Amino acid sequence: MEWFMIFASVAVLWLASICKILHASFYPYRSSVFNKDGSLQKRNVLLVIAHPDDESMFFSPTINQLTSRGHNVHILCMSTGNADGMGNVRKEELYRASATLKVPIQQVTVMDHPDFQDGFGKVWNTSLLAKIVEKKVNENEIDTIVTFDNYGVSGHCNHRDVNHGVRRYMVDFSHREIEAWELVSTNIIRKYIGPTDIWFSSWSARNSLNGQMHCLLNENPHRSYAAMSQHQSQWVWFRKLFVSFSSYTYVNTLRKINK
Ligand SMILES: *[C@@H]1O[C@H](CO)[C@@H](O)[C@H](O)[C@H]1NC(C)=O
Repeated sequence: MEWFMIFASVAVLWLASICKILHASFYPYRSSVFNKDGSLQKRNVLLVIAHPDDESMFFSPTINQLTSRGHNVHILCMSTGNADGMGNVRKEELYRASATLKVPIQQVTVMDHPDFQDGFGKVWNTSLLAKIVEKKVNENEIDTIVTFDNYGVSGHCNHRDVNHGVRRYMVDFSHREIEAWELVSTNIIRKYIGPTDIWFSSWSARNSLNGQMHCLLNENPHRSYAAMSQHQSQWVWFRKLFVSFSSYTYVNTLRKINK
C-alpha cells in the first residue's frame, strides 16, 4: 500500500509537471529572457558546444524557445566528436539534428582542429577558442552567446573548457556589446527527475539576484527527442533513457556571465 502511495504521488507530480510544460507551450511567456519587456527585437544567438549531440541532449529547451520566437540561432561545435573514430558520421548527424531543431544547417559550424579533439584528458586551448568565438561573432553579428557553465552538466573537461573559452572571450573582447549565458548544471538527483525539475528550476531562477538567472521550459519536448534520434551512432538504449529522464530535456536554467 505504501509503495502504491509513493508511486501514485510520483505519477501525479510527473503529470502536473508535464501539464505545466504544455501550458507554457500554449501560452508562451511574452517576455522571455531574450525579449525583455516584450520587445520584439530579434537576436543573433551563438550556441557554443563541445560535441555533436550536446545541442539536443542539453540545450534543446533553449533552442526551441529561441527558434519559436524567430531568433536566429547559430551553432558552433568545437569538435567532430571523434573519440571513437566516428567524427565524420557525427558531424552529419549534427546537421540533421539541427534541421530538426529548426536551425538552418548553413548556420552550423563543426570544427575539426588539432587543438580541439574530443576526449577526456585533452586540454583545449582557451585563448584560441576565444579567438574562434570572436571570429564567429564578427561574421554573424552575434549579440548573444549561450554555452556550458563551469561544470558543464556532466563534468566533461571539454564542456568545461568551452565555458573557459567563452569566459576568456568575454574578458578579452569586453568592449563588445554582447550578452553571454551559461547553462546551469544541477545536482545528480535533479538531473534525472525529468520534467519535475521545473519546480526547482523556476524556484531558483525566481530567487536569483537581479534577474541573473532565467528558467526556460521546453515548449516542444517531442522535437528534442526527435533531434536526439538523428544522432543515430549515439542513439543507444541508455541515451534514450537519458533523454526521457534527464531534466535538461524539459528545462534549461541560464545564468548570465558577467564581464
Ligand atoms: C593557444 O593559442 C594561442 C592563440 O592562438 C597561442 O598563442 C598559444 O601558443 C596556444 N597555446 C598552446 C599551449 O598551444
